[in-house]
Amino acid sequence: MFSSRIQKIQPSATLAINAKAIELIKQGKNILKFGTGEPDFDTPQNIKDAAKQAIDEGFSKYTDATGISELKTAVVEKLKRDNAISSSAENILITNGGKQALFNLFMALLNPGDEVLIPSPYWVSYSDMVAVCEGVSRFIDTRSNHFKLTAKMVEEAITPKSKILILNSPSNPTGMTIEKEELEKIAELALRHNLYLISDEVYEYFLYDGKTHFSIASLPELRDRVFTVNAVSKTYAMTGWRIGYVAGPAAVIKKMGSLQSHSTSNPCSIAQKAALEALTGPQDSIQLMATEFLKRRDYVFEAMNQLPGFQLTKPEGAFYAFPDISGCFSGQIQDSFQFTEFLLEKAQVAVVPGGAFGEAGKNCIRFSYASSMADIEEGIKRIKEVL
Ligand SMILES: Cc1ncc(COP(=O)(O)O)c(C=O)c1O
Repeated sequence: MFSSRIQKIQPSATLAINAKAIELIKQGKNILKFGTGEPDFDTPQNIKDAAKQAIDEGFSKYTDATGISELKTAVVEKLKRDNAISSSAENILITNGGKQALFNLFMALLNPGDEVLIPSPYWVSYSDMVAVCEGVSRFIDTRSNHFKLTAKMVEEAITPKSKILILNSPSNPTGMTIEKEELEKIAELALRHNLYLISDEVYEYFLYDGKTHFSIASLPELRDRVFTVNAVSKTYAMTGWRIGYVAGPAAVIKKMGSLQSHSTSNPCSIAQKAALEALTGPQDSIQLMATEFLKRRDYVFEAMNQLPGFQLTKPEGAFYAFPDISGCFSGQIQDSFQFTEFLLEKAQVAVVPGGAFGEAGKNCIRFSYASSMADIEEGIKRIKEVL
């Protein structure tokens, strides 16, 4: 009955634990959830107002399948202002969240058997999207360098079949970044080995300790081979609005636009107007969120490293802590999935097992600090009590 393509997708390994958490909440248990991948802030008022205005003005019809031109212009401006990337409207596709940008890319670039290099631990959707598009994921284990990708690791992983390398800095799930010098060396590798680069920059503004973001697409020699994927989802606390975008070589962007026109058509017209306000209106909400995340990151870093069996390298960005918890393994608990279940049952704390993000994450858990400081304090206290 099923296509061979769809049979390659695995049910999300986190679903079981999520379902269990929901079940326990239904039973009246006070579960603290640290599994979420979205800011706990509300969308800023000016963005909501822009959406209301769009509705009132009747902006409720189909738009160009590839996005409204004002929003593409705003993206071009944003990329110039914040990322030193030069582009024009023909290089931009507006999508239904960053996810659709990635999916369209794999559909447009992969032939059966083409390899996609994915630094691991990795955001789960990459490998499933690659599988649906009949590509082959080849994982690059980053454990030896505190989950920080280096050019050497990439070079060792390249095979004649490698076509795409995914870069995700700061990273979900590890919160680590890729250093600029490494990105420059990776650029050389991309040229030498004819690789396309997908740079997923959805967490670019959530960086700590004076770190700055570097977009690899700003290197002019890579103009023809980098796709920069981003979204308003995390930056403006707009995960539910579903607006993302991708910037890259015009010929591929055009093909992706055709695909989109036959699948979802345009991203929601009203959400596009909201995204336009997000990119062109006041930007102070980003700093407010980043400042709050920094406070929580500092607290989590100190508190987790005092937990017996926990070892956490200081996260450099995003809003995730990815501690190694193998020091807690004993008896019945021998992997991150069992540890996660143990935390849920005994501490009533929900986190994501690191093994869900690939073999390289198997000794870790992902703890999202996009939760209130009070919940974080209580959550870590509960974990301490049950260890
Ligand atoms: C690394 C990474 N890329 C892309 C996305 C997709 O974001 P969106 O909600 O805009 O589709 C996410 C969302 O969790 C993510 O963590």
